[in-house]
Amino acid sequence: MSCNDTPDLTPEQAGDGKMKKGKVVWMTGLSGSGKTTLCRAASAFLRARGEQVQILDGDELRKGLSSDLCFSIADRMENIRRTAELAKMLCAHETTVLVAMICPTDDMRSLMRSVLPDVIEVFVNAPLAVCESRDPKGLYRRAREGAIKEFTGISSPFDIPRQPHLVCHTNVETVQESTAKILAFLLDTATTA
Ligand code: PPS
Ligand code: MG
Repeated sequence: MSCNDTPDLTPEQAGDGKMKKGKVVWMTGLSGSGKTTLCRAASAFLRARGEQVQILDGDELRKGLSSDLCFSIADRMENIRRTAELAKMLCAHETTVLVAMICPTDDMRSLMRSVLPDVIEVFVNAPLAVCESRDPKGLYRRAREGAIKEFTGISSPFDIPRQPHLVCHTNVETVQESTAKILAFLLDTATTA
């Protein structure tokens, strides 16, 4: 599925009305697990039905808002705190915020939830070996060579999320299947909350 294809949702899942308020969906997962892909696909669907959507992608934010930060635990914490605060502001303006950020440890996710108590946490779960074989940016290879320090899953921790609202197994599900799951959950909580 390309990011512009429409996922298959039942009428019940898609709903007739607009969402009542902004929501934050936070995709956590290893580099190369599919966070960005799922955010883009979900964004395309929501925009097509007239929702206001903002993607906050770690890769992008690190070029601007968080360009002063590296990948130490302390810097990742600060990166996540900033992003969560930004998501909260956008949310207050009835924007649906889709975050693609590794957010690798339990402590970081606790911090994120302290800022965003209503966040929908999605674990984009592809095994490390699969992410490493995808290696879309060549980062795993460079991390294995030692050229990138503190690389998540290789030389920096990734805690398995304890209680995500959803898990997308992107090594076995299609992009459309994973996206449909996320949208169904989002639209359900956003129209009933
Ligand atoms: S974090 O841990 O949440 O602060 O990371 P995040 O802001 O999401 O940034 C992840 C993207 O940065 C690139 N990159 C690295 N990732 C992990 N570890 C190291 N050391 C690293 N260096 C660069 C990488 O492209 C990540 O993007 P994704 O989309 O996850 O692959
Ligand atoms: Mg990405």
